[in-house]
Amino acid sequence: MNRIFSGVQPTGNLHLGNYLGAIRNWVALQSSFDCIFCIVDLHAITVPQDPAQLRLQTREVTAAYIAAGIDPERCIIFNQSMVSAHSELSWLLSCLTPLGWLNRMTQFKEKAGKQRDNAGLGLYAYPVLMAADILAYKATHVPVGEDQKQHLELARDIAGAFNRRYGVEFFPLPEPQIFGAATRVMSLRDGSKKMSKSDTSDYSRINMTDDADTVALKIRKARTDPLPMPETPEELETRPEAANLLGIYAALTDVTVDAARARFAGQNFSSFKEELAEVSVAVLGKIGGEMRRLVADPGYIDRVLRGGAERARAIAEPHLREVQDIIGLLRP
Ligand code: TYM
Repeated sequence: MNRIFSGVQPTGNLHLGNYLGAIRNWVALQSSFDCIFCIVDLHAITVPQDPAQLRLQTREVTAAYIAAGIDPERCIIFNQSMVSAHSELSWLLSCLTPLGWLNRMTQFKEKAGKQRDNAGLGLYAYPVLMAADILAYKATHVPVGEDQKQHLELARDIAGAFNRRYGVEFFPLPEPQIFGAATRVMSLRDGSKKMSKSDTSDYSRINMTDDADTVALKIRKARTDPLPMPETPEELETRPEAANLLGIYAALTDVTVDAARARFAGQNFSSFKEELAEVSVAVLGKIGGEMRRLVADPGYIDRVLRGGAERARAIAEPHLREVQDIIGLLRP
C-alpha cells in the first residue's frame, strides 16, 4: 500500500489553514493509505520555544489530529523527537545536499529575515530534516498545504541525489498531495498574506479552539471589498478576499469553489458571511470541544504518542540501517 507521511509543528495556535490545508485532507485519506502523522517538535525548536509551552502544544496538536477524525489505531501518530532515526537520517542526507539548494528556500529567507547571520543552523537545515521525516518511512505521498511545495520538491531532489550517488533505487520520490478548495488560506484581514500561526494582528486567523462567538465575530469582521459576491470565475480571480472566503466555505462544505461562487453570486457579503459563520461554527465547534476533552486527559494522549513512536520506530529503524549499509558505515 502507498504510504503517507505528514506533520504539523507544535508552535502557537493551530488555525483554519492548518485544518483545511492539511488535517482535514488527512482524515479523508486514512482509509486508502498507510498513514503516519507526526507532531514535528524538532522542527518547532528551529526557533526559540518555551519548554512548558512546547510540551503542552505537542499534546494539543495530537488532540487536534484525533478530534478532527484521525484514528490513532489505524494511523501512526507520534512526536518526531521520540524516533531518533529522523535526526540520524537528517545528518546523512545533509552530507549530500548542496548549499545552493538550501539557499533557494523562501521559508528560510522569510523566517531569517535580515538577521541571516543570527539565524540558527537548524533553521537553515530545516528542509533536510523534513526530507528525512518523509524518507525514513519511504513515504510515497505527502499531503500538505501549498506553502510546503518547495520543501517537498527539495525532498524529492534529495531522494534522487541519494539514489544517484549510490547507484540504488532505494528512496521513492515522494509525491506532494496539495488538494481541496483551501490549499492556501489567507489572513482574514489581509488577502495578500497567508493565515499563519505567527500573525499577531487581531481577527486575522481563526484558531481551531476558538469558541462559537469568536469564530462568528472574526468572520463578520473579515475584510471584503464593497461589491456584491462575484458573478463569474474570472471576476473571482480579481477579488482575493472573496476568493479566500469562498474557498473556506467550499472546503468546509465539501463543494468546489465554483459551486460555492455560483450559489452566492450577486448576493451581498453579509448574508454569505452569516452562512459561512454557521458552517464554520458547526465544524470547528465539534472539533474544538473534542480537543478540550482530550487535552484534559494527558495520560491518554501520551499513551497514543508512545504507542505511535514504537510503531514508527519499527518502520524507520530498519530503513536507517539499510541506508547506513549503502553508505558504507560499518555496523560491527
Ligand atoms: P506547519 O506546521 O507550518 O503547517 C502544517 C500544515 O498546515 C498547512 N498550512 C496551510 N494550509 C493552507 N493555508 C494556510 N494558511 C496554511 N498554513 C499552514 C501546511 O502546508 C502544512 O501542511 N514543515 C512543515 C511540517 C513538516 C512536514 C514534514 C510536513 C515537517 N516535516 C514532513 C510534511 C512532511 C510545517 O512547518 O508545517
